[in-house]
Amino acid sequence: MHFPAESYAMSSAVKSIVTVVGTRPDFIKVAMMSRVLSAGKGFSEVLVHTGQHYDANMSDVFFRELGLPQPRYHLGIGSAPHGAQTGRLMESIEVVLHQEKPDCLLVFGSTNSTLAGALAAVKLQIPVARVEAGVRSLNKKMPEEVNRILTDHASSILFAPTQTARKNLLREGFDPDRIHMVGDVLYDAALYFSAQAEQESTILRDQGLTEKEYVLATVHRAENTDSRVKLTAIFEGLQRFTETMPVVLPLHPRTAQILNDFNLFESLTRELIVLDPVGYFDMVSLVKNARIIATDSAGVQKEAYFYRVPCVTLREETEWMELVDSGWNRLCSPVDGNGFLTAMTRAIDSAGQERDLYGSGNTSQLILKLLLESDLDRSNKFNYQAHPVSIPLPPRSLAG
Ligand code: UD1
Ligand code: UDP
Repeated sequence: MHFPAESYAMSSAVKSIVTVVGTRPDFIKVAMMSRVLSAGKGFSEVLVHTGQHYDANMSDVFFRELGLPQPRYHLGIGSAPHGAQTGRLMESIEVVLHQEKPDCLLVFGSTNSTLAGALAAVKLQIPVARVEAGVRSLNKKMPEEVNRILTDHASSILFAPTQTARKNLLREGFDPDRIHMVGDVLYDAALYFSAQAEQESTILRDQGLTEKEYVLATVHRAENTDSRVKLTAIFEGLQRFTETMPVVLPLHPRTAQILNDFNLFESLTRELIVLDPVGYFDMVSLVKNARIIATDSAGVQKEAYFYRVPCVTLREETEWMELVDSGWNRLCSPVDGNGFLTAMTRAIDSAGQERDLYGSGNTSQLILKLLLESDLDRSNKFNYQAHPVSIPLPPRSLAG
């Protein structure tokens, strides 16, 4: 792939950008952005790894495979309840920001690391550039939805992946001049790494899988893992589907731990191939060659579409409704194995419409161009329009 980044450089002064990442999906998303930033002359990037994900197969493998630069800071935050984790993240990121004094902070996605990065920066009046802005599930019970909304509202420059995301931001009162519809960075990664992944991965052979003759499943979303009913239904459905074809499941550590706690591992047979989390190259190979995918992952839903594999999303709603509208994705939040089996059987050989949903694979380059053109010094002003909602006055006695 060609990176014409240098031609975008508008000013000779190099600006500094601190990029905060901490989880598996964001390591993949930042891979292309970091390449583009280092190929261009406009920014020098300082990569901060928060340590929210820390197992070798949730972190190191992506740095190795995707050629990510070693982070200048590794904060080692680790796992903790939401409040404690977000607080610790903010405290450590603030120290980095005081040290680096960047012109801008860059964040992706919807994790606690994302929110903590944005909050720490905006409080120091450092402009936040926000990739994947405006993505909404409209379900505030999801920790990710809260993180997304708050991050967007702390950000100065909003890079929306889809028209829907752009419309969500406009509905929330953001200044249209601050919103840029750029496409999806995950699509950049898919285009860039797909051939290499296929060449280097041996996972199909290692697991005795045949192209288009297996199901790929992933499960990690809290609404599924934290519900015994849902988790049982999902695993019962997957187990029963092994009578039709093999099912392979690279298991998120969160889910592994909860399956253990619920004693659900014992009910699984060898036909359900449960693996430790796999690297990106193996995952691309598994996604690309699957007959059908069942997942609650945001990224895997889109990757299923990139490789035109039908997908059942194990949730009641999705942030990526265009996948459902175009016929590539079906929603099924299982409450029993039967419902899940029916959804899988209906979806298995379905195909959706051909649409250009996530840009052209040059999203990272577009983001760099827009960052170079933007006036970062001025962009940190209050960045959404006067909100139409009126603020109630305090009671008379208090108002004085
Ligand atoms: C986080 C994100 C979620 C994202 C997911 C990507 C939040 C609130 N959630 O969820 O949006 O989809 O990452 O995978 O930020 N664990 C390990 N080893 C690790 C990492 C986690 O064992 O390297 C286990 C720990 O028991 C931990 C649990 O997984 O308590 C959950 O990890 P955490 O980062 O809190 O949330 P995720 O479920 O991974
Ligand atoms: N992924 C991976 N190995 C796995 C599972 C997922 O490399 O074992 C990749 C997947 O291809 C996608 C990203 O991780 O690019 C999605 O991450 P995850 O499902 O953890 O989070 P989400 O996208 O739901 O936030």
